[in-house]
Amino acid sequence: MDPKAVKSDLVLILDYGSQYTHLITRRIRSLSVFSLTISGTSPLKTITDLNPRVVILSGGPHSVHTEDSPSFPDGFVEWAEANGVFVLGICYGLQLIVQRLGGEVRVGEKQEYGKMEIEVQRNSGLFGSKSVGDKQVVWMSHGDEVAKLPIGFEVAGKSQQGVVAALESLSRRFYGLQYHPEVTHSPEGMETLRYFLFDVCGVSAGWKMENVMEEEIKVINSTVAPEDHVICALSGGVDSTVAATLVYKAIGDRLHCIFVDNGLLRYKERERVMETFERDLHLPVTCVDATEQFLSKLKGVVDPEVKRKIIGKEFICIFDAFAHELEQKLGRKPVYLVQGTLYPDVIESCPPPGSGRTHSHTIKSHHNVGGLPKDMKLKLIEPLKLLFKDEVRQLGKILNVPQGFLKRHPFPGPGLAVRVLGDVTTDNALEILRQVDEIFIQSIKDARLYDEIWQAFAVFLPIRSVGVQGDQRTHSHVVSLRAVTSQDGMTAEWYNFKHEFLDDVSRKICNSVRGVNRVTYDITSKPPSTIEWE
Ligand code: XMP
Repeated sequence: MDPKAVKSDLVLILDYGSQYTHLITRRIRSLSVFSLTISGTSPLKTITDLNPRVVILSGGPHSVHTEDSPSFPDGFVEWAEANGVFVLGICYGLQLIVQRLGGEVRVGEKQEYGKMEIEVQRNSGLFGSKSVGDKQVVWMSHGDEVAKLPIGFEVAGKSQQGVVAALESLSRRFYGLQYHPEVTHSPEGMETLRYFLFDVCGVSAGWKMENVMEEEIKVINSTVAPEDHVICALSGGVDSTVAATLVYKAIGDRLHCIFVDNGLLRYKERERVMETFERDLHLPVTCVDATEQFLSKLKGVVDPEVKRKIIGKEFICIFDAFAHELEQKLGRKPVYLVQGTLYPDVIESCPPPGSGRTHSHTIKSHHNVGGLPKDMKLKLIEPLKLLFKDEVRQLGKILNVPQGFLKRHPFPGPGLAVRVLGDVTTDNALEILRQVDEIFIQSIKDARLYDEIWQAFAVFLPIRSVGVQGDQRTHSHVVSLRAVTSQDGMTAEWYNFKHEFLDDVSRKICNSVRGVNRVTYDITSKPPSTIEWE
């Protein structure tokens, strides 16, 4: 989608590496205002081309005193002042403003971390809202502090220790908060942001999923020529389904979807997903049974990264063959490939310099971005690439994707291969895992816990242990159950089931799945673990 097409002023966030940067973007979007995050060291032209009404400089782990600390480009201040653009610095962002506009930042005598009380000094700009108190609790996290204000600035709030907590220059339209208004530990922070955007900056709101959908359809229609054909690989997950439904609404039968059964799917997944595609969404989907193709390549493979690579490569071969078949049938090559890439994938793929964050591919090769071979010769359509997951769900709802489908837990592209430790083709592992997983998930649904858990699944361990079942000694398999809560999968906490629930599930599994005599529950969070086991 073209950001310029959105009927809302843009609040642009320059990211300096704070763990809260995404949260600022989401908070602003929750006010129906369009917000985008780009690297804090983006060139001036990138910033000015986006034509933002407000620019927010995020926090970050740096000190403005270190030599290569990231900053906004030269000419930014002059451009903002000449064009009536409002600038708000948060934490490190505030310190950048002070330093670059001629003030002084020094290493603080006392560092301020955690909840603090601040006192409002001026009710004119940042704290003009009648709904915020003169004394507020806020979330601080900084070592450096303001020693001297730039010309034309006033202190708007101070911490109990006398440190500048907020500053502003109404005439220059530059503002700064030393604390994080976007986190819930700053209870009045959201009202401060709201007041700042609407009352101080006069931002107009218009970021609604209905508009996003209409704009997106227009963009797809103007990108894909009337004779062009498009392919889409459906995984059965929310993102690819919503992306395909949207593209289908735009171009109809020139969209050709493929669903690959790689033999690594969950219990009855193929039947269930195909039913939704056909019955509820009327999507034209070709279902390919490639079980043999995948499993024969995975035979004997135990290294998790090698498994992922093999699976990725096989998928591409199948998409290629599908594109080739379509070419024979239609007399022309499909030109585009739809992908359900989301905004966090895009941001994570280009972390700000010096942020200390590395490309997520280094942990596991699992994101869509950049994952396609160059010789595939298909251009990408990524209609969700500006959206967060919850926004994709809202869009799916407008597109009549069934609610139950939209709420599905995430499922990894390599499927059960990353839940069977070691060789997936031995010991009837996949079949055992399917049955165990189905019992676990169904029990979670029966207990009405599915929606409060972010992701749950079973894992097959490549070991046997001694058991006693029906007076017989057994030497059978061990499975592990995993359930986590999370915001976005980047970090996760293990879910604390009642003991009775676990007891019940364990009995059901051992009583009905042949080959399992031991059930364990995974009580590790991420970090140090990941969510999937491989
Ligand atoms: P991890 O295990 O990395 O998982 O903590 C985080 C989230 O990502 C999903 N995941 C994947 N999704 N292809 C995918 O499409 C993959 O290779 C992959 N690996 C992990 C995982 O299920 C969890 O939701």
